Amino acid sequence: MLMTVERTKAPRTAERLSRVKPSPTVALFGRVAQLRAQGQNIIGLVAGEPDFDTPENIKEAAVAAMRAGQTKYTAVDGTPALKEAIRAKFKRENGLDYAADQIIVSVGGKHVIYNAFMATLSPGDEVIIAAPYWVSYPEMVLLCDGVPVIVPCRAKAGFKLSAEDLERAITPKTKWVVLNSPSNPSGAAYLPDELKRITEVLVRNPHVLVLTDDIYEHLVYGNFTFNTAAQIEPELYDRTLTVNGVSKTYCMTGWRIGYAGGPRDLVKGMAAVQSHSTTNPTSISQAAAVEALNGPQDFIAKNNAAFARRREMVVDALGRIEGIECHKPEGAFYVFPSCQGLIGRKRPDGQIIASDEDFVIYLLEKAGVGVVFGAAFGMSPYFRVSYAASDDVLRDACNRIAQASHDLS
Ligand SMILES: Cc1ncc(COP(=O)(O)O)c(C=O)c1O
Repeated sequence: MLMTVERTKAPRTAERLSRVKPSPTVALFGRVAQLRAQGQNIIGLVAGEPDFDTPENIKEAAVAAMRAGQTKYTAVDGTPALKEAIRAKFKRENGLDYAADQIIVSVGGKHVIYNAFMATLSPGDEVIIAAPYWVSYPEMVLLCDGVPVIVPCRAKAGFKLSAEDLERAITPKTKWVVLNSPSNPSGAAYLPDELKRITEVLVRNPHVLVLTDDIYEHLVYGNFTFNTAAQIEPELYDRTLTVNGVSKTYCMTGWRIGYAGGPRDLVKGMAAVQSHSTTNPTSISQAAAVEALNGPQDFIAKNNAAFARRREMVVDALGRIEGIECHKPEGAFYVFPSCQGLIGRKRPDGQIIASDEDFVIYLLEKAGVGVVFGAAFGMSPYFRVSYAASDDVLRDACNRIAQASHDLS
């Protein structure tokens, strides 16, 4: 009897699960959907995905693959056709030479990164992450028994990691440094000389592996040119995992294809992890990704023209609001404004806005606009606005944010 009682009381979940928080962006996305289902007029600027549909030629490639019977298991680490397309992409766009056994295809960029940490982290290993960061980096590190080491980046420095701060954060236990350019949530992207200063620090620390998350590579505006670490500093090639995917550039978030190029032993370890979890990514999505990488690329410039226009509009509109400061980032489809000037003010119902989370809840409840609070990305008091929405929707959202901010006393 006693045994039964004890067993019922024991937690069902593993200790490692108590270390992580569920993704706040996914939770907010759910809250926006819930309020909409209740009939409220909510503008959601929460999602991390383009509002454009997957190009037709890519969809057709998926249909053709299904008709041709490509509906079976594939090689765990990706079909030969997709690996060849990825090899050619790295060569063409990044000047990086990877052989087929240096490439892995996984179920989205997120899965690539998870596999990398799972394959390499031992308890106590440190992973340096610049804040503001994509919400999943620290949580994935924790799930894999590692220790996230967060390095705050100043808004004045465009939310970019400085070489000095990076150098100070490196210890003998540092296993990885994560670089994400353009960044989610800040949109910050590194200029060649900024990246060079970082890579110089990394060259001096040969025990550190480098993970570059280049998923927003093509989403850069004006005359910004994208660069990645292994390209800027060939000495890092042997210990850099260059992560990318089709989700953002090709408007394929639902297809779940990410990939990476890197050192053979690491890629082999990642494939071993994957072989016991998902096996291969979906065969049909892989066929679609081949067409994405090898097919016409002209729609990217068209999409980017829309993103660039929206960036101007949102930065301008939010920057005019008293109490909000909005930096203009180089890329992705996010802005990360400060709401410092509104902290301490009172809502019309008398509640105090004490944090960025309070401000975001207020915007959702009073203005019907869903954005994400900065603390979720490790930096307060800021909030992230995704401008992957139509010009009209963005205009309406900015007006609502302006009105709600004005209504604070
Ligand atoms: C910085 C960053 N890396 C990786 C990913 C994951 O992309 P995927 O949808 O391919 O898993 C995202 C998606 O939001 C992201 O913002």
